[in-house]
Amino acid sequence: MSLQGKKIVLAVTGSIAAYKTPHFVRLLVKAGADVKVLITDAAAQFVSPLSLATVSKHPVLANVNDGATWNNHVELGLWADAMIIAPCSANTLGKLANGLCDNLVCAVYLSARCPVFIAPAMDEDMWLHPSTRANMSKVRGFGNHIIPVVHGELASGLIGEGRMAEPEDMVAHLGGFFSEENKQLKGIKALVTAGPTYERIDPVRFIGNFSSGKMGIAIAEALADRGAQVTLVLGPSHEHTYHSQVKTIGVESAHEMYEASMAAFKDTQIAVLAAAVADYRPAMQATEKIKKKETELTIALTKTDDILASLGKIKQPGQTLVGFALETNDELAHAAEKLKAKNADMIALNSLRDAGAGFAHNTNKITLLKRSGVHVALPLQSKKDAAASIVDHILELRHAEKIA
Ligand code: CTP
Repeated sequence: MSLQGKKIVLAVTGSIAAYKTPHFVRLLVKAGADVKVLITDAAAQFVSPLSLATVSKHPVLANVNDGATWNNHVELGLWADAMIIAPCSANTLGKLANGLCDNLVCAVYLSARCPVFIAPAMDEDMWLHPSTRANMSKVRGFGNHIIPVVHGELASGLIGEGRMAEPEDMVAHLGGFFSEENKQLKGIKALVTAGPTYERIDPVRFIGNFSSGKMGIAIAEALADRGAQVTLVLGPSHEHTYHSQVKTIGVESAHEMYEASMAAFKDTQIAVLAAAVADYRPAMQATEKIKKKETELTIALTKTDDILASLGKIKQPGQTLVGFALETNDELAHAAEKLKAKNADMIALNSLRDAGAGFAHNTNKITLLKRSGVHVALPLQSKKDAAASIVDHILELRHAEKIA
């Protein structure tokens, strides 16, 4: 991954993850970047400015003025090709979201005209707090790039969301951003469906499924990483994305997902339907809560619209349509049937018989079935890596059809 000649301002703020930043600077320098480091007072409790100065070969700046020297934040902001705030503490995030400026990091951030990357790090409860959620939405809305937190062991000893991305992954993220070769989907619009759908029975109950939305969100992000402008139609899910190139449309039912997808599809060149859409919805939706009376209750169900099949019917040359198939038996045969019946260009098959695959996991094991009859068995890998592989194969399909 090359960052040859790139000028990077790294702002380190107060989180235990700051201890990883000397290694991060080493990796950036190794990749060819010129790195200037800013540090907050809180961060200096976690990592030594001397270590950062040594590996970056520049003085580490902490204040707008150091004694008699003024550290020109405007100049620093203009000097940088990219600014990265890593780790970004909850406190700094709050300041960035609200335009506060009580230290050099905030002053440079407000002065920067270059792309800004934010890699948050905090304990899970802080990460999930509504104020953090709101601040994340705000900073993303300002056009900053978010390097998502990862799941794992936290400083508190808890296991959960909130770890800063690993330095290697952050370097890859920056490298990917600067690499034009990687932006094969620039100018392309994509549609992704993700998550479950909820079909209301009455005002308090619904029929749903265990889909988390993680796989679809990873695909939306992987398409956006390659330069596509993505519309993500997301069913009820606790997951979300802060990717600046992904616009999320939240829906609840299969019908809402159908309407949103049909509206977006006309204008898109790539559609990946990863949602676990309910196949049936209650024929009647009770307006009042159904009371517990009889020993048995029968709910009549009616078929929902098949979104993938509907898009398959109106698909035009130049549009690439990818579906998923979740199977428990005769997997390849069922997936091949879906490929044909729904007029898709590729089906990503998951089998619930594979350990580590399917709904609840952060990993997935996928076999890709293409219209040419080619089957590609991908290894068990993280949903992020699986998503990147799926996008590689979409590109391959489009190259083969000369519509890349
Ligand atoms: N799909 C869809 N709309 C539906 C049902 C499914 O768009 N109403 C899409 C899914 O997003 C997926 C593909 O169709 O891309 C296959 O979904 P799956 O649930 O595996 O298959 P079904 O077609 O629903 O068939 P079955 O449940 O009988 O396996």
